[in-house]
Amino acid sequence: MTKILGLISQKGGVGKSTLARAIACEAQKAELGVKIADFDLQQGTFTKWHQRRLQADLNEVGSVEMFKSVRAALEAADGFDLLIMDGEGRASEKTLEITKVADLVIIPCGVSNDDTEPTCDLAKALVDKGIPRKKIVVTLSRVGSDASANRAREDIEARGFMVVDGYIPEKTSYSDAQYVGKSILETRHQSVNDKSQSFIDTLIEIILKV
Ligand SMILES: Nc1ncnc2c1ncn2[C@@H]1O[C@H](COP(=O)(O)OP(=O)(O)OP(=O)(O)O)[C@@H](O)[C@H]1O
Ligand SMILES: [Mg+2]
Repeated sequence: MTKILGLISQKGGVGKSTLARAIACEAQKAELGVKIADFDLQQGTFTKWHQRRLQADLNEVGSVEMFKSVRAALEAADGFDLLIMDGEGRASEKTLEITKVADLVIIPCGVSNDDTEPTCDLAKALVDKGIPRKKIVVTLSRVGSDASANRAREDIEARGFMVVDGYIPEKTSYSDAQYVGKSILETRHQSVNDKSQSFIDTLIEIILKV
């Protein structure tokens, strides 16, 4: 059975593709067969990053393809262990479709209330449409401090949604790495890699359990 992971958000630029890339790298390292569905037809963020990666002579992180429809992505993922659906910039009708078929839905979120409120509103709208609350998790990304992460976590949990332990800090080296086709696990700074590695390890554990 293919495990299906959906990365979605209400707002753009929250780190969906960043997480999708790191999860794909890690899953590939664990020798899982990984299919990545890039639904961002306008930007093709994942696809272009993968192209940069291959041009830089780095390893493939799976089979990457752009899709318009969720159904086509599901068909193409037949035989793979993991399908990662990297959602488009903002929430759309496709967001609900992704959420319906996913075993786990990740909503990356920044730490200000400008981020946590729309994130919880989206999660609630999905629950109202019949999506089980327990398959939705929020991850904190682009975090500046422990204090801001704790505050965001409390806000989100108070609205009844799960927040994954730990967070991805905001680091220039993360964007620099991705600029050259690397993931946030592959920056030039070991301590920065360790931080993202521990978070991605936590996520992979959750993914493997669902
Ligand atoms: N933790 C971080 N630290 C520094 N830069 C980051 C971090 N996370 C993401 N970025 C940068 O922020 C930008 C947006 O990230 P990303 O593309 O992952 O978000 P997204 O949610 O997929 O965006 P979109 O909504 O456009 O699909 C990228 O330039 C990325 O390199
Ligand atoms: Mg993206």
